[in-house]
Amino acid sequence: MSDQESSETKLTAVAESAVTTPPTVEVKNVKRIYEVGASRVMALRGVTLSVPNGVLAALKGRSGSGKTTLLNIIGGLDKPTEGEVFLFGHKISEMANEELIELRRKKIGFVFQSFAIMPMFSAVENVELMLRIAGYTENRRQLAMRALEIVGLGPWAHHRPWELSGGQQQRVAIARALSTHPELIIADEPTGELDSSTGRQIMALFRYIAVKEGITILMATHDPMVEEYAHIVFELGDGQIKEVRMPNP
Ligand SMILES: Nc1ncnc2c1ncn2[C@@H]1O[C@H](COP(=O)(O)OP(=O)(O)OP(=O)(O)O)[C@@H](O)[C@H]1O
Ligand SMILES: [Mg+2]
Repeated sequence: MSDQESSETKLTAVAESAVTTPPTVEVKNVKRIYEVGASRVMALRGVTLSVPNGVLAALKGRSGSGKTTLLNIIGGLDKPTEGEVFLFGHKISEMANEELIELRRKKIGFVFQSFAIMPMFSAVENVELMLRIAGYTENRRQLAMRALEIVGLGPWAHHRPWELSGGQQQRVAIARALSTHPELIIADEPTGELDSSTGRQIMALFRYIAVKEGITILMATHDPMVEEYAHIVFELGDGQIKEVRMPNP
């Protein structure tokens, strides 16, 4: 094969994979109505969006706009009243429950506002616990250390949560989420309990993880600072997407 032919083959392969690799998340006309007693709350009124692979994406909107509702539906923790969600190209409404649990365990990491790390375990033990839950039987210590190094906590691996700052505790939670090398990390207000400069560090870390590790990150926030870090911002208002921006391609 000539050089030209081989580079054309490569180009074709790249173009084909761009066509055949589905976006990490696809949401199609999702509605979610909560029935509370006799009243109905329309939390999502027909949301359609697509999150490409390996980006930091933000779901931005004020309190009550539907961010958590949408993240729960995307993460398979809740079901839409109407509409479809595709994760890595799989229609999750058509999956058996066990299959969805398995997909979540293998391919999705979760990070919460309140960190939710175990106080009696050290940083590295917290990460190892996640690997154990995910079914890893070997190399847990090594994998946990690598995850802590990615988030810059290598030297703090043996510290317990109370010896760590809020930002460091959130990094432990992020290391835990990425230790299994998921394809998607879902984070609900991960900077909500942090001061603004620590929040900034966490957003920069998320962007770094998306770019360097190729893990797609979808975070909900109302923090305007996210505009400086996210590749894509979905502005949510009153249960609908109001605007999609790409502030930092
Ligand atoms: N379990 C529930 N039962 C009834 N209504 C709910 C439930 N969860 C959320 N809602 C309503 O759905 C709407 C969207 O709520 P959601 O929690 O998704 O907003 P949010 O954007 O995450 O807000 P915040 O920024 O305060 O976390 C709100 O009007 C809320 O009151
Ligand atoms: Mg919320």
